[in-house]
Amino acid sequence: MEILGIDIGGSGIKGTIVNTETGEFVEERHRIPTAHPATVEVIANTVNEIVKHFNYKGPIGCGFPAVVQNGIVKTASNIDKSWIGVNVDDAFTQTTGMPTYVFNDADAAGAGELEFGCVKGFRGLAIFLTIGTGIGSAIINNGQLLANSELGHIYLENGLKAEHYASDAVRKSQDLSRKEWGERFNVVLQHIEKTFYPDLIVLGGGTSKKFHKFEDTITIDTPVKPAELLNQAGIIGAALLAERKG
Ligand code: BGC
Repeated sequence: MEILGIDIGGSGIKGTIVNTETGEFVEERHRIPTAHPATVEVIANTVNEIVKHFNYKGPIGCGFPAVVQNGIVKTASNIDKSWIGVNVDDAFTQTTGMPTYVFNDADAAGAGELEFGCVKGFRGLAIFLTIGTGIGSAIINNGQLLANSELGHIYLENGLKAEHYASDAVRKSQDLSRKEWGERFNVVLQHIEKTFYPDLIVLGGGTSKKFHKFEDTITIDTPVKPAELLNQAGIIGAALLAERKG
Protein backbone atom coordinates (compact mmCIF):
# COMPACT_ATOMS: atom_id res chain seq x y z
CA MET A 1 0.00 0.00 0.00
CA GLU A 2 0.97 3.64 -0.30
CA ILE A 3 0.58 5.42 3.03
CA LEU A 4 1.49 8.94 4.14
CA GLY A 5 4.11 8.82 6.91
CA ILE A 6 4.96 11.94 8.91
CA ASP A 7 7.70 12.59 11.46
CA ILE A 8 6.90 15.42 13.87
CA GLY A 9 9.99 16.96 15.41
CA GLY A 10 10.87 20.06 17.41
CA SER A 11 12.44 21.83 14.42
CA GLY A 12 10.65 20.33 11.44
CA ILE A 13 7.65 18.27 10.37
CA LYS A 14 8.60 15.94 7.52
CA GLY A 15 6.53 13.54 5.51
CA THR A 16 6.05 11.65 2.32
CA ILE A 17 4.09 8.80 0.82
CA VAL A 18 5.72 5.45 1.57
CA ASN A 19 5.40 2.18 -0.29
CA THR A 20 4.85 -0.10 2.69
CA GLU A 21 5.90 -3.24 0.78
CA THR A 22 9.35 -1.91 -0.14
CA GLY A 23 9.87 0.89 2.39
CA GLU A 24 10.64 3.29 -0.45
CA PHE A 25 9.55 6.89 -0.68
CA VAL A 26 7.03 7.29 -3.51
CA GLU A 27 7.40 11.08 -3.58
CA GLU A 28 10.11 13.47 -2.52
CA ARG A 29 10.02 14.24 1.21
CA HIS A 30 8.28 17.50 2.15
CA ARG A 31 9.47 19.45 5.22
CA ILE A 32 7.80 22.34 7.01
CA PRO A 33 9.60 24.08 9.92
CA THR A 34 7.78 23.59 13.24
CA ALA A 35 6.13 26.84 14.34
CA HIS A 36 6.37 27.83 18.01
CA PRO A 37 4.60 27.63 20.38
CA ALA A 38 3.91 24.19 18.91
CA THR A 39 0.36 23.86 20.21
CA VAL A 40 -2.14 21.20 19.14
CA GLU A 41 -3.80 23.52 16.63
CA VAL A 42 -0.52 24.68 15.09
CA ILE A 43 0.82 21.12 14.64
CA ALA A 44 -2.52 19.75 13.40
CA ASN A 45 -2.61 22.49 10.75
CA THR A 46 0.97 21.74 9.68
CA VAL A 47 0.17 18.02 9.39
CA ASN A 48 -2.77 19.01 7.24
CA GLU A 49 -0.52 21.15 5.02
CA ILE A 50 1.58 18.06 4.35
CA VAL A 51 -1.57 16.08 3.50
CA LYS A 52 -2.62 18.83 1.09
CA HIS A 53 0.86 19.07 -0.44
CA PHE A 54 0.56 15.44 -1.58
CA ASN A 55 -3.17 15.76 -2.29
CA TYR A 56 -3.35 12.58 -0.21
CA LYS A 57 -6.41 10.57 0.73
CA GLY A 58 -6.08 7.56 3.04
CA PRO A 59 -4.76 6.59 6.46
CA ILE A 60 -1.91 8.64 7.91
CA GLY A 61 0.80 7.58 10.37
CA CYS A 62 2.70 10.13 12.48
CA GLY A 63 5.70 9.77 14.77
CA PHE A 64 5.49 12.18 17.72
CA PRO A 65 8.18 13.04 20.31
CA ALA A 66 6.28 11.88 23.42
CA VAL A 67 4.69 8.82 24.97
CA VAL A 68 1.44 8.24 23.06
CA GLN A 69 -0.75 5.57 24.61
CA ASN A 70 -3.85 4.60 22.65
CA GLY A 71 -3.85 8.00 20.96
CA ILE A 72 -3.41 9.99 24.18
CA VAL A 73 -0.28 12.08 24.76
CA LYS A 74 1.15 11.21 28.19
CA THR A 75 4.41 13.17 28.43
CA ALA A 76 5.81 16.48 27.22
CA SER A 77 9.55 16.71 27.88
CA ASN A 78 10.47 18.57 24.69
CA ILE A 79 7.05 19.72 23.49
CA ASP A 80 4.48 22.25 24.68
CA LYS A 81 3.00 21.13 28.03
CA SER A 82 -0.54 21.73 26.70
CA TRP A 83 -0.22 18.43 24.82
CA ILE A 84 -0.57 16.27 27.92
CA GLY A 85 -3.89 14.41 27.95
CA VAL A 86 -4.77 15.36 24.36
CA ASN A 87 -6.21 12.65 22.12
CA VAL A 88 -3.84 13.39 19.27
CA ASP A 89 -5.33 10.73 16.98
CA ASP A 90 -8.71 12.46 17.22
CA ALA A 91 -7.26 15.97 16.89
CA PHE A 92 -5.33 15.14 13.68
CA THR A 93 -8.15 13.01 12.26
CA GLN A 94 -10.52 15.94 12.69
CA THR A 95 -8.20 18.45 11.03
CA THR A 96 -7.07 16.25 8.14
CA GLY A 97 -10.40 14.48 7.58
CA MET A 98 -8.39 11.25 7.21
CA PRO A 99 -7.90 8.45 9.79
CA THR A 100 -4.67 9.51 11.51
CA TYR A 101 -2.69 7.37 13.96
CA VAL A 102 0.06 8.77 16.13
CA PHE A 103 2.93 6.81 17.70
CA ASN A 104 6.00 7.63 19.73
CA ASP A 105 8.66 8.82 17.23
CA ALA A 106 11.34 6.37 18.37
CA ASP A 107 8.88 3.46 18.22
CA ALA A 108 7.96 4.50 14.67
CA ALA A 109 11.64 4.64 13.66
CA GLY A 110 12.29 1.32 15.43
CA ALA A 111 9.38 -0.24 13.49
CA GLY A 112 10.98 1.02 10.26
CA GLU A 113 14.35 -0.54 11.14
CA LEU A 114 12.59 -3.75 12.15
CA GLU A 115 10.84 -4.11 8.82
CA PHE A 116 13.48 -2.78 6.41
CA GLY A 117 16.70 -2.01 8.31
CA CYS A 118 19.24 -3.65 10.55
CA VAL A 119 16.75 -5.23 12.97
CA LYS A 120 15.06 -7.14 10.14
CA GLY A 121 15.03 -10.84 11.02
CA PHE A 122 17.13 -10.21 14.15
CA ARG A 123 16.57 -12.73 16.95
CA GLY A 124 17.30 -11.50 20.47
CA LEU A 125 16.93 -8.17 22.23
CA ALA A 126 17.60 -5.09 20.09
CA ILE A 127 17.46 -1.58 21.53
CA PHE A 128 17.02 1.27 19.08
CA LEU A 129 17.97 4.77 20.28
CA THR A 130 17.24 8.03 18.46
CA ILE A 131 19.48 10.93 19.31
CA GLY A 132 18.15 14.41 18.64
CA THR A 133 16.62 17.10 20.84
CA GLY A 134 15.90 14.27 23.27
CA ILE A 135 16.91 10.61 23.35
CA GLY A 136 14.14 8.24 22.31
CA SER A 137 14.05 4.45 22.48
CA ALA A 138 12.36 1.42 20.96
CA ILE A 139 12.82 -1.99 22.54
CA ILE A 140 12.46 -4.87 20.08
CA ASN A 141 12.56 -8.39 21.46
CA ASN A 142 12.65 -11.22 18.90
CA GLY A 143 10.95 -8.99 16.33
CA GLN A 144 8.30 -7.70 18.75
CA LEU A 145 8.19 -3.97 19.52
CA LEU A 146 7.54 -3.05 23.18
CA ALA A 147 5.95 0.38 22.76
CA ASN A 148 6.58 3.55 24.77
CA SER A 149 9.86 2.78 26.49
CA GLU A 150 11.61 5.98 27.61
CA LEU A 151 15.30 5.15 27.99
CA GLY A 152 16.27 8.78 27.43
CA HIS A 153 14.78 9.44 30.85
CA ILE A 154 16.84 6.95 32.86
CA TYR A 155 18.94 8.57 35.59
CA LEU A 156 22.65 8.07 35.27
CA GLU A 157 25.03 7.69 38.21
CA ASN A 158 25.90 11.40 37.87
CA GLY A 159 22.28 12.20 38.83
CA LEU A 160 21.30 13.47 35.37
CA LYS A 161 18.75 12.07 32.97
CA ALA A 162 20.41 10.46 29.94
CA GLU A 163 18.91 12.99 27.51
CA HIS A 164 19.99 15.93 29.67
CA TYR A 165 23.57 14.66 29.56
CA ALA A 166 24.06 13.25 26.07
CA SER A 167 21.39 14.32 23.57
CA ASP A 168 22.44 16.02 20.35
CA ALA A 169 20.86 19.24 21.66
CA VAL A 170 23.22 19.08 24.68
CA ARG A 171 26.21 18.53 22.37
CA LYS A 172 25.28 21.66 20.44
CA SER A 173 24.36 23.88 23.41
CA GLN A 174 27.53 22.94 25.35
CA ASP A 175 29.66 23.06 22.21
CA LEU A 176 31.06 19.56 22.83
CA SER A 177 33.40 17.96 20.32
CA ARG A 178 32.20 14.64 18.82
CA LYS A 179 34.74 12.90 21.07
CA GLU A 180 33.57 14.69 24.24
CA TRP A 181 29.97 14.01 23.35
CA GLY A 182 30.77 10.38 22.41
CA GLU A 183 32.31 9.80 25.83
CA ARG A 184 29.12 11.06 27.44
CA PHE A 185 26.96 8.94 25.19
CA ASN A 186 29.10 5.92 26.08
CA VAL A 187 28.07 6.44 29.73
CA VAL A 188 24.43 6.15 28.61
CA LEU A 189 25.23 3.00 26.63
CA GLN A 190 27.05 1.48 29.63
CA HIS A 191 23.99 2.10 31.79
CA ILE A 192 21.65 0.53 29.22
CA GLU A 193 23.97 -2.45 28.80
CA LYS A 194 24.09 -3.09 32.55
CA THR A 195 20.29 -2.78 32.82
CA PHE A 196 19.14 -4.87 29.84
CA TYR A 197 22.12 -6.84 28.49
CA PRO A 198 20.77 -6.39 24.95
CA ASP A 199 22.16 -8.31 21.95
CA LEU A 200 22.25 -5.26 19.68
CA ILE A 201 21.99 -1.47 19.98
CA VAL A 202 21.03 0.56 16.90
CA LEU A 203 21.51 4.34 16.76
CA GLY A 204 19.13 6.49 14.74
CA GLY A 205 18.29 10.16 14.32
CA GLY A 206 20.52 12.70 12.57
CA THR A 207 23.51 11.44 14.59
CA SER A 208 23.42 8.07 12.83
CA LYS A 209 25.06 9.76 9.83
CA LYS A 210 28.00 10.85 12.03
CA PHE A 211 28.58 7.42 13.58
CA HIS A 212 32.14 7.16 12.22
CA LYS A 213 33.05 10.33 14.13
CA PHE A 214 32.32 8.89 17.60
CA GLU A 215 32.44 5.13 17.03
CA ASP A 216 35.85 4.95 18.75
CA THR A 217 34.49 6.35 22.01
CA ILE A 218 32.10 3.40 22.46
CA THR A 219 33.55 0.80 24.83
CA ILE A 220 30.62 -1.51 25.62
CA ASP A 221 30.61 -5.21 24.66
CA THR A 222 27.17 -5.08 22.97
CA PRO A 223 27.43 -4.55 19.20
CA VAL A 224 26.41 -0.97 18.30
CA LYS A 225 25.42 -0.05 14.72
CA PRO A 226 24.07 3.06 13.00
CA ALA A 227 20.51 2.71 11.67
CA GLU A 228 20.36 1.50 8.07
CA LEU A 229 17.47 3.77 7.10
CA LEU A 230 19.28 6.71 8.76
CA ASN A 231 16.73 9.38 9.65
CA GLN A 232 14.12 8.17 7.16
CA ALA A 233 13.17 5.34 9.52
CA GLY A 234 10.64 7.50 11.40
CA ILE A 235 8.57 8.32 8.30
CA ILE A 236 8.69 4.75 6.98
CA GLY A 237 7.82 3.22 10.37
CA ALA A 238 4.93 5.65 10.98
CA ALA A 239 3.41 4.60 7.63
CA LEU A 240 3.85 0.91 8.49
CA LEU A 241 2.29 1.23 11.93
CA ALA A 242 -0.66 3.19 10.48
CA GLU A 243 -1.23 0.49 7.87
CA ARG A 244 -1.48 -2.11 10.64
CA LYS A 245 -4.04 0.02 12.52
CA GLY A 246 -6.20 0.73 9.48
C1 BGC B 1 10.67 11.93 24.67
C2 BGC B 1 10.49 10.63 23.91
C3 BGC B 1 10.96 10.82 22.47
C4 BGC B 1 12.37 11.36 22.45
C5 BGC B 1 12.87 11.61 21.04
C6 BGC B 1 12.12 12.38 24.56
O1 BGC B 1 12.29 13.57 25.23
O2 BGC B 1 10.35 11.74 26.05
O3 BGC B 1 9.15 10.23 23.96
O4 BGC B 1 10.89 9.59 21.81
O5 BGC B 1 12.48 12.54 23.19
O6 BGC B 1 12.12 12.56 20.38
